[in-house]
Amino acid sequence: MMALVRAFTSSAAQRGVNIGKPVKIPFVPLVSESGFPGAVGNTPLLRLNKLSKTCNANILAKAEHLNPGGSVKDRAALYIIMDAEQRGLIKPGGTIVEGTAGNTGIGLAHICRARGYKCVIYMPNTQSQGKINLLKLLGAEVHPVPAVPLDDPMNYNHQAKRHASSLENSVWTNQFDNRANRQAHIETTGPEIWAQTNGEIDAFTCSTGTGGSLAGTTRYLKDISNGRVQSFLADPPGSVLYSYITSGGVLKERSGSSITEGIGQGRVTDNLAPEIESIDGAVQIPDEKSIEMVYRLLDEEGLFVGASSALNVVAACEVAQKLGPNSTVVTLLCDSAERYAPRLFSRSWLDSKGLSSAIPNHLQKYIVLD
Ligand SMILES: Cc1ncc(COP(=O)(O)O)c(C=O)c1O
Repeated sequence: MMALVRAFTSSAAQRGVNIGKPVKIPFVPLVSESGFPGAVGNTPLLRLNKLSKTCNANILAKAEHLNPGGSVKDRAALYIIMDAEQRGLIKPGGTIVEGTAGNTGIGLAHICRARGYKCVIYMPNTQSQGKINLLKLLGAEVHPVPAVPLDDPMNYNHQAKRHASSLENSVWTNQFDNRANRQAHIETTGPEIWAQTNGEIDAFTCSTGTGGSLAGTTRYLKDISNGRVQSFLADPPGSVLYSYITSGGVLKERSGSSITEGIGQGRVTDNLAPEIESIDGAVQIPDEKSIEMVYRLLDEEGLFVGASSALNVVAACEVAQKLGPNSTVVTLLCDSAERYAPRLFSRSWLDSKGLSSAIPNHLQKYIVLD
């Protein structure tokens, strides 16, 4: 991996000039004949240089925020639509319906436009107006509904399912339990990571919403490495999965809550279930560490990413410390901080969450919003 990274710091190597050493192309320069859908995935793998030094490890992060719809969820959105097409569940002009608080809806809305479908999104009405506006801008029909638990028939997922069954030529894509989501990561994220690291990877870690990213990437990396690559869940407070994995499937404790969005889970989804036994361990990351890492990634690495990405990076360092010096750990940068900037970089919001003091003095200058 290091040889690969060094080769690419050379401008000769970047131009593909033969400089007498084998030059590896980390990802194939893309021409997408199919437009937006063909541009999903194939994201750069970034070595987080300063953090790697601090952690005494190679911390590598997949720049999923550079997907064309701006998040890791573009991969799942594409695969669940392709799966519905292949299974004959939707025909041209049909309607895709999903319950989603954000990124999956954004990915679906883009792909629906590109493929000629209508897009209907149900989401809890606790979500920011910014997300609702963006989905509307992308042509989706948005239904913000009261935030109630999954066992309530008015939960946004059940409403999405009912909406789809009330229409002809319509599908509820069911991202949580539709395994086409996990398949996206078996077929794309996992193979990309393996190729980009040349197989020199000791562990993978990421947080879970649906569990598609963690489960699919874990499956591929375990299979290709004959079980050598380890996999760790990175969990925020308020999710049951940390207790579930660390107790060997006995406990489902849900204490605390988190400012992170899109992650944390109250159950083992159908996407996660096939891999839950293969996960080697879990780390739980408090919000104080995640928010500090949002600011550190900006200051030290020039990366403007959201809190789930920051949580993943903190987890990658903790996993590297478990594995020992110089280990190589890969994680995901799920989306940009742009979607959360009015919160994450606002003094009053940080104060309201008791998180201002988690930002070290030298990073306070980035709190530029009131
Ligand atoms: C910002 C963000 N990070 C991480 C995830 C988790 O991805 P997955 O659903 O594959 O577990 C999501 C899911 O929506 C997300 O929106």
